[in-house]
Amino acid sequence: MPDLKDEPGGLAPGVSASQVEAGQAVYSTRTLKFYDLFVLGISNRWIWKCPTHYLREHFARHATSNHLDVGVGTGYFLDKVKFKESNPRIGLLDLNRNCLDVAAKRIERYQPTIFQADLFQPLEIDCEPFQSISINYVLHCLPGNFESKSIVFKHLKPWIATGGVIFGSTILHPEVPRGVMARQLMKVYNQKGIFSNTEDSLTRLHQALDDHFSDVKIETKGCVALFSAKVN
Ligand SMILES: C[S@@+](CC[C@H](N)C(=O)[O-])C[C@H]1O[C@@H](n2cnc3c(N)ncnc32)[C@H](O)[C@@H]1O
Repeated sequence: MPDLKDEPGGLAPGVSASQVEAGQAVYSTRTLKFYDLFVLGISNRWIWKCPTHYLREHFARHATSNHLDVGVGTGYFLDKVKFKESNPRIGLLDLNRNCLDVAAKRIERYQPTIFQADLFQPLEIDCEPFQSISINYVLHCLPGNFESKSIVFKHLKPWIATGGVIFGSTILHPEVPRGVMARQLMKVYNQKGIFSNTEDSLTRLHQALDDHFSDVKIETKGCVALFSAKVN
């Protein structure tokens, strides 16, 4: 993992390196084997009440053939989406090497470019901007509230081409319906630092996206917000 520094100015205010570490540490080679079944299969449908096909459709609506996926997990969405071009340019960006390796292997047919980086740091990646960037189920893993975690939008913006789109999804806490199981699981995940979303509301997500992008659109399904925004 890259060196994370607790230096002033290195991370967003109120966010420590150990909190950033906790937000991605759960994704070991072993846990990634169960990710698709537990998160995308069971939790999305039965706990967060947003069956994965909603996320797949959202991904398919916005992903272009010049695409960077951020917070790649197992690479599920890139694997399932049908790109318009047979030879898309695909980038994978994540802090966690296990996720990058698993996702890169899964979509090796696209020969993806891999960037290991922490979203809380300015991205020093050497490439042309992408026409679309996806960031699915990452924001609720990032420490802090939207005031601090929205720094990731600032860091990603230079890598979105003019006219390009950023889109994704995140699990909210206030202002969305949460059943008993959702409340319980979110409580445990927040205690363990796997989630940090106790202050993540629809209003704050909208504000964070408005601060950096235009044409912001957000819809919700269960506890999940599906969003998109443009760079003019
Ligand atoms: C819940 S998984 C989402 C996986 C996939 N996008 C999906 O929707 O199935 C969160 C991902 O964000 C990554 N991540 C967490 N904190 C990060 C950070 N500070 N910088 C970069 N990636 C991070 C994790 O390593 C993991 O791949």
